[in-house]
Amino acid sequence: KVPVTRLLRRPAAIIGTPDQARHPNIRLPRDLYRPQRTNSRGIEFGDRSALNKLLSDVAASKPVINEIADMSPETASDIVAAARAGFKAWSATAGKTRAEILEKAAALLEQRTAHFIALLQSEGGKTLDDALSEVREAADFCRYYAAEGRKLFGGIEEMPGPTGESNALRLRGRGVFIAISPWNFPLAIFSGQVTAALMAGNTVVAKPAEQTPLIGAEAVRLLHEAGIPSSALHLAQGDGRIGAALTAHPDIAGVVFTGSTEVARSINRTLAAKDGPIVPLIAETGGINAMIVDATALPEQVADDVVTSAFRSAGQRCSALRLLFIQDDVADRMIEMISGAANELKIGDVRDPSVHVGPVIDAEAKQRLDAHIARMKKQARVHFAGQAPEGNYVAPHIFELSDADQLTEEVFGPILHVVRYPADGLARVLQSIERSGYGLTLGIHSRIDDTIEDVIDRLSVGNIYVNRNMIGAVVGVQPFGGHGLSGTGPKAGGPHYLTRFAAEQTVTVNT
Ligand code: SER
Repeated sequence: KVPVTRLLRRPAAIIGTPDQARHPNIRLPRDLYRPQRTNSRGIEFGDRSALNKLLSDVAASKPVINEIADMSPETASDIVAAARAGFKAWSATAGKTRAEILEKAAALLEQRTAHFIALLQSEGGKTLDDALSEVREAADFCRYYAAEGRKLFGGIEEMPGPTGESNALRLRGRGVFIAISPWNFPLAIFSGQVTAALMAGNTVVAKPAEQTPLIGAEAVRLLHEAGIPSSALHLAQGDGRIGAALTAHPDIAGVVFTGSTEVARSINRTLAAKDGPIVPLIAETGGINAMIVDATALPEQVADDVVTSAFRSAGQRCSALRLLFIQDDVADRMIEMISGAANELKIGDVRDPSVHVGPVIDAEAKQRLDAHIARMKKQARVHFAGQAPEGNYVAPHIFELSDADQLTEEVFGPILHVVRYPADGLARVLQSIERSGYGLTLGIHSRIDDTIEDVIDRLSVGNIYVNRNMIGAVVGVQPFGGHGLSGTGPKAGGPHYLTRFAAEQTVTVNT
């Protein structure tokens, strides 16, 4: 019998959904709400009056929906030229000054929390919990990269050398970075990419996802207001054609991209084929993220963490759980509990703060997910099928597959696939995870240290979560990014991220 000490040893604050305020260096208005207890249903507001105030501010914010004009791909050259023209002045701006601007941006984001929540709800379909977490995450990125940037871009690093010679190393901007961000975190990932590239001394052309242009436009407006010169940060609206034209431009110095593996590959090919300098691609893509649950796991906690990981944000997180491996001795009981917890989720209009699962991003996404559900209903055993209202809603579903290889691609929605494995079958489970080629997030629920260590050592996965849910990486706490088909590896919100945007220069002087 395995004792539960592992569970009890965990500090209570680590349990549950993201709370960006946990980072010690990050100052956030904690009194806005207090998560009393977090569970599969998200964050519960401890203070009703704070919640009511927030809701009325969100309702009053009524974001003005401007017309967003798409750029024509032919104008890519002009925008890259404008960003190049801004590079000299911005890269010469002191690191300290750049950091101060990002700190100002964080403060402005916090002041306008209600405005951005309203935008994230109306354009991105986010629940209140998700929208609030996202505004906090965007502010965290600004402060974290400012803090890291002060250290890295504060001056030159003296290197040792022989008598009569001085050696120094310094980091500087590379040039024009193209930042292409996804619709699922239209504020946080957008701001994270842009502020990292700017902090490192680059100028930026930011292309928000075509589904969420307004949030991108508002974020750029805020950054300009905070003090980023308009010559250093440019906005390019449009679909993939704009992204393709920008990344093919010979004068760019790097690309940071978050989105599908397929698009990352295509950018990689474009960068390899074009004339001009050899430039880096920083890519974060998707995954067929797995969780392994053995017979020693605590069922109540598993149910809570699985429902959070698979269904929060309607499963539209690249970190979300897609494939759950459960040891067969406990599988029936676990699946029953997980289905019971899924059944408690409320699906519907996100303006209702008690809703847990909002819409998927658009009709096309709904069609794709519905087609997958229809296929699974024929090929797999249905354990749970929720009810969705009219509109772009997809209800949570739980299917049992006879073999993990039946799931060949990332399904970006609230659909969980379960596979049973025998007590002696862990090695095969690990092989099957490796075979997928992805390596973004992984969950393990076990109280056997050897099992946990074996899994961690064996798998090349970017973010591993043990005995908790596997979403909501916190900036500066859980640096985020994957391996293999899941990305090129740099960790957003981690201490090495900024260096990936910078050029290093060594200066040796014969004294
Ligand atoms: N950073 C996000 C998360 O950890 C990615 O989708 O959930």
